[in-house]
Amino acid sequence: MAKLHIVKLGDEILRKPCRPVEKITPRILTLLDDMLETMRDANGCGIAAPQVGVLRRICIVEVEEGHPIELINPKIIAYSGEQEAEEGCLSIPGKWGVTKRPMHVTVRALDRNGESFDVTGSDLLARAFCHEIDHLDGKLFIDCVVGDIQES
Ligand code: NI
Repeated sequence: MAKLHIVKLGDEILRKPCRPVEKITPRILTLLDDMLETMRDANGCGIAAPQVGVLRRICIVEVEEGHPIELINPKIIAYSGEQEAEEGCLSIPGKWGVTKRPMHVTVRALDRNGESFDVTGSDLLARAFCHEIDHLDGKLFIDCVVGDIQES
């Protein structure tokens, strides 16, 4: 595994839509491994491929330590409820803000074996799914902050 460089706010790659993965190649599997290592090294609970400079629809969420959820071509297929909570991003270090997100989110994605699966998350997990899938469409949490962006 290798630690990758995390692209920061201001780099236009973060604003571009990502292309779907058509075939899960060894290169994609290596990318997943490297993204996980990069996210953990940065103490993040989620990372999306554009954050390491790759415009593919791939992200990882790890809200529960040791249980990363790898998502290839993820889609939100159901959501309900509402929550407001603080959110930050590895690409926007030192800044955070309150966003409004659904309380429950169901995502359909492919796993690393190319199998389709559905996963439902609430609270932080729901927020992380939304945040990372937004990245794949060039959207950042600062676009949906309720109130001010805080600096720490
Ligand atoms: Ni982010």
